[in-house]
Amino acid sequence: MQIITDPKEFQSVCWSWRGQGLTSALVPTMGFLHAGHISLFTWARANAEKVAASIFVNPTQFGPNEDLDRYPRDPEGDAAKAREAGVDVLFLPEPGAMYPEGFATTVSVAGLTEGLCGASRPGHFDGVATVVAKLLLLAMPTTAVFGQKDWQQLAVIRRMVRDLDIPVAIEGRPIFRESDGLAMSSRNVYLSPQDRALAPHVQKGLQAARAWKAQGVTSARELTQRLTAYYKDAIPTARPDYVACVHPETLAPLEDASGPALMAVALFFPGARLIDNLLLD
Ligand code: PAF
Repeated sequence: MQIITDPKEFQSVCWSWRGQGLTSALVPTMGFLHAGHISLFTWARANAEKVAASIFVNPTQFGPNEDLDRYPRDPEGDAAKAREAGVDVLFLPEPGAMYPEGFATTVSVAGLTEGLCGASRPGHFDGVATVVAKLLLLAMPTTAVFGQKDWQQLAVIRRMVRDLDIPVAIEGRPIFRESDGLAMSSRNVYLSPQDRALAPHVQKGLQAARAWKAQGVTSARELTQRLTAYYKDAIPTARPDYVACVHPETLAPLEDASGPALMAVALFFPGARLIDNLLLD
């Protein structure tokens, strides 16, 4: 596995793959790799001739009071995991290389970014869209692979790629979970042992919402109220940021959840803000 820190060198290697007519997959990450990331690498390895991965804790997607400085990092461990998973090229740029002096461009996707995480993390999705646009233009992969845990992020990236005619297929992969159902996330390490023990209720609540719908509850308001009450009872230490029932593609809030519906939640635990989602069908 080749490790590259210079964006232009990364671009030259990845573009040479295109020139040779090889298919390639890019897996953008912020590192501190867990089994969920590895499942993305594995999918990429099985579906493309060349695999590139990036590890970049992107400063522009963190708000001023967020965890940029303490975001967990393990570049050496990550490189070993990426190598083992069959990654061909690992891109590890420094912030100054991605955002050199005078950098002045922001990619902003309107509408889709306003609700859910966008409401409590202003500017977050501009940071995500900008860095992903850069990574796609550097690697020009056939396919770029993302996890579905960040469902809104995936919707934003799909829209950006469509609107800007970026010639890449976007592959969204299922959420990878711990054996007790907690969605894997690099931020789970912030949870205290007590909160880690309660955190599986995030997903248990979503499963309950799916069961309520199967039993005939199709009012989105009723579903979100029931789920909010579930969380209050099961995880008293967590404060919901949002509990929302939305259309899976437009992310518009639903009134009637009898058709396609996504339940998406974010909860502030004392040590970490966790997100999760579940299609109710
Ligand atoms: O999901 C992430 O890890 C990040 O938001 C991404 C897509 C790598 C952009 O920094």
